Amino acid sequence: MNHTRPHLFVTGSCGLIGSEVVRFFDARGWHITGVDNNMRRDFFGPEGDISWNRKRLLEVCKHYTQHDLDIRNRQGIAELIRTTRPALIVHAAAQPSHDLAASRPFDDFEVNAGGTLNLLEAWRQHWPEAVFVHMSTNKVYGDRPNTLPLVEHTSRWDYARSEDRNGIAETMSIDQSQHSLFGASKLAADVLVQEYGRYFGLATCCMRGGCLTGPLHSGVELHGFLSYLVRCNLERREYTIFGYKGKQVRDNIHSFDVARSIELFFEHPSVGAVFNLGGGRENSISIMEAFERVTELTGIAMRHSYRDQPRRGDHICYISDLSLLRSALPGWELTRSLDDIFRELIDGWKSRAVSSSGAAV
Ligand SMILES: NC(=O)c1ccc[n+]([C@@H]2O[C@H](COP(=O)([O-])OP(=O)(O)OC[C@H]3O[C@@H](n4cnc5c(N)ncnc54)[C@H](O)[C@@H]3O)[C@@H](O)[C@H]2O)c1
Repeated sequence: MNHTRPHLFVTGSCGLIGSEVVRFFDARGWHITGVDNNMRRDFFGPEGDISWNRKRLLEVCKHYTQHDLDIRNRQGIAELIRTTRPALIVHAAAQPSHDLAASRPFDDFEVNAGGTLNLLEAWRQHWPEAVFVHMSTNKVYGDRPNTLPLVEHTSRWDYARSEDRNGIAETMSIDQSQHSLFGASKLAADVLVQEYGRYFGLATCCMRGGCLTGPLHSGVELHGFLSYLVRCNLERREYTIFGYKGKQVRDNIHSFDVARSIELFFEHPSVGAVFNLGGGRENSISIMEAFERVTELTGIAMRHSYRDQPRRGDHICYISDLSLLRSALPGWELTRSLDDIFRELIDGWKSRAVSSSGAAV
């Protein structure tokens, strides 16, 4: 191993964010140790299988080593961090679905909170020189964003007051709201990461993601909004809308722009940092608007049904305020527009040879 190259340790390395981070840092000449046990398949069935991505990473990336290790394996994680001595740890392994958590509460908490604690303690004990970046979520705010006054437009909800126009800032309360069990386990992890920063004086960051997306996603109904929506369109599958008249708004950010924010935090580290990270207003879209746009781009009409029952704790309008991120990490900007994202998702699903049965091969 060439020790002059910096070393990246990334969990969830075959998922959307993990694999983007692997490719991003591989292109910059880093050595990379990736940890992913394909638990996404266990969570979501064959459609969540990330083997295709693992295979691709091993083919494409020059300095990548893959470990099929479970982040709940405390000793295994400690040993790997001790021996690899990374400059940067990116923690992107998770049970990522809001909806799935209630049916698998122990798995959800043990992976999201327990797995994070395993990493933090291994890092603190064996190699605290590393910068630690944790992929958190906007679900840590629970459904509190829904308490902002909203206005209903023809195709979307939006914030009614001009002072909310930029979206949700990091000052929003994380308390006294409905989080879902997923939001609760991710909030536990988020606070642990902040505390390992503040209590031990170490460089940590929580990136509270809006809708993170890109062609590397193995999008499924319960996780990966835009990726799954595009897939449904291409396969002429019915997409089910859950409540809010399909006018609920998400802000979408390409995984490349997430990787870039991580690189910038590595270059400008601080203790216990927290950032909201999404597509902001310019990359925000409602479900109804997304149906219209994907149809324009593919020429395929969107099939959909409606259930007049929102997902529990779901956001009606969520737009990330990116002001803090922009000021703390100078040079960070969105490089992919919504249309870029749509096009990459369409090309990505097509190149994964979507069969008529719906299985990605
Ligand atoms: N995608 C989004 O819209 C979004 C939004 C906000 C926050 N996030 C957060 O970003 C992070 C990455 O999300 P993603 O979209 O890349 O998810 P993903 O499901 O695509 O990737 C997660 C990866 O972690 C792996 N994994 C799960 N449990 C594991 C375990 N016990 N041990 C080892 N590996 C395990 C899975 O196999 C999967 O490949 C997560 O923490 C998620 O909560 C994602």
